Amino acid sequence: MTPRALAQDQIQLLADHSLTLITELQTDEGAYPASPSFSAYVGYSWLRDGAFIADGVSAAGAIASASRFFDWCARTLLARTGQIDEIVRATASGMPPSGEKMLPARFTFSGDDGTDDWWDFQLDGYGTWIWALSQHLERHDLDGSPYHDAVAVTIDYLLASWQRPCYDWWEEHAQHTHISTLACIAAGFEATLRRNLVSHERAARVTTELAALRARLLSDGVQDGHLIKWIGGTAVDGSLASAIAPLGVIEPTSSIARRTIDVLESHLTVNGGTHRYLGDTFFGGGQWPLLSCFLGLAHDAAGDRTRANELFEWAAATATTNLDLPEQVDDHLIAPGMRQEWIDRWGTVATPLLWSHAMFLRLGIQLGRIDTQQLTANHERTA
Ligand code: BGC
Repeated sequence: MTPRALAQDQIQLLADHSLTLITELQTDEGAYPASPSFSAYVGYSWLRDGAFIADGVSAAGAIASASRFFDWCARTLLARTGQIDEIVRATASGMPPSGEKMLPARFTFSGDDGTDDWWDFQLDGYGTWIWALSQHLERHDLDGSPYHDAVAVTIDYLLASWQRPCYDWWEEHAQHTHISTLACIAAGFEATLRRNLVSHERAARVTTELAALRARLLSDGVQDGHLIKWIGGTAVDGSLASAIAPLGVIEPTSSIARRTIDVLESHLTVNGGTHRYLGDTFFGGGQWPLLSCFLGLAHDAAGDRTRANELFEWAAATATTNLDLPEQVDDHLIAPGMRQEWIDRWGTVATPLLWSHAMFLRLGIQLGRIDTQQLTANHERTA
């Protein structure tokens, strides 16, 4: 499909639809489903998607919805305290559990593992949810104390495990240590310290490990002056923009940020649409509106609002006639021959994808393209 440019009133309509969709699909438990209809995602909430969705709706003023998601995270993680204690104990004794025994990337709405096999050992979401929580607390001046216990168990898990290779944002390449994953964990550690979310004793350990993590990220995670997809490689990944913004792990005006943005533009972005990585074959390896939004946030933080607006417009224009935003579009495919294989396996591309809607909201609000007062007023009327 060829994205169409949207007029300002359509942007506001799309924002309205995005917020309504996310809040209406939020479950009674507080979870955000990744996509209501896509076969492989139905019935599950991912920590990664959910944290960014909560950040988007929090920025849009849907305070109660975001809080309910963080409450769900807290309950889900506290129920895992025994499993986490065991992982921490085994790791400290030099016998870290295998990936299958680590915490999952996604949960059923009631907080269970579910029965479907998945590429579950992913650490990024455990940092991201703490980061998103702290953003929410700061933005709306809320009390963090109800979350302290859940943050503490998450921090214990991350302190024991952050050095381990695991599946990345795309649930692939488990043998590697991914720089976006390290950035998410760093953001979680930084947020914990900034908001005093854990005891002094834990905070001291976080400070030590954060310094080690940052040192690793800035030495092994950089090649040719830019962030890389995984340690030991040279290629980039669209998710790396998040390290610059909104996670704020890499200073946006630093030379690493500038060079990373340049390479994400030249290697992965075509006409405003950002690919995940070169070599992507998932649904033919199309362009992801949520990644254009992450790149837009990075550009804006680095001072290029014009380019951020172009990326925003590209993402907005991927909306279907029903105003649903997809996971990816097939305008420009890296591996066109692989597209049909995925359609045969899982059906057509996940649409709507709540994470895409949330990133559209987050960037649009950042750029002043979405009127949040009007959005909240409409939302409250329909809630
Ligand atoms: C993506 C993940 C995402 C999941 C749910 C997968 O296809 O690779 O990043 O968390 O879908 O949206």
